[in-house]
Amino acid sequence: MVKQIPKVLISEERIAARVAELGAQISEDYKSKDLLMVGALKGSVVFMSDLMRAVDSPMSIDFISASSYGSGVNTSGVVKIVQDMTADIAGRDVLIVEDILDTGTTLRHLAKLLLERGPKSLKIAALLEKPSRKVVNIQADYVGFTIPNVFVVGYGLDFDEQYRNLPYVGVFD
Ligand code: IMP
Ligand code: MG
Repeated sequence: MVKQIPKVLISEERIAARVAELGAQISEDYKSKDLLMVGALKGSVVFMSDLMRAVDSPMSIDFISASSYGSGVNTSGVVKIVQDMTADIAGRDVLIVEDILDTGTTLRHLAKLLLERGPKSLKIAALLEKPSRKVVNIQADYVGFTIPNVFVVGYGLDFDEQYRNLPYVGVFD
């Protein structure tokens, strides 16, 4: 398979520096809380694995898989839980970890679902945010980078399941 090499939008170094800042902030905010990070599969895995190691307060993790995109670049607007989490989140301080806040459809759906399960608190961390694409009124509490309306890949984000392993966030020419 011949692949295009995406050009760097956010370098490994910039990502590492920003993730360290977010981790420090989260450590401070959750110092005396019962933090459960819930990664939205699959796009959040790279971000979450770095972010959790930047947190020095006690915490645990779980994962949930929702899909709103098909295999291409256009959202279907329909969100489906493909695989649910296993932890009981009642009374816990839940932080949803997402790769990107695009239209907001996926996160709104996830947040609504998790809120029904009675967490003590619910916040959202997103590596990226594309404000120009937002159609749903939802705000992330922690945002890595705000980017323009371009389709990005790498550091967990895919195009047709490819490019998730790139160590940087890139765009196609
Ligand atoms: P939303 O529901 O429109 O906010 O879309 C959220 C999901 O769409 C993300 O979790 C990503 O999986 C995917 N997505 C949105 N924008 C991009 C992009 O630029 N590159 C790769 N995936 C994206
Ligand atoms: Mg995707």
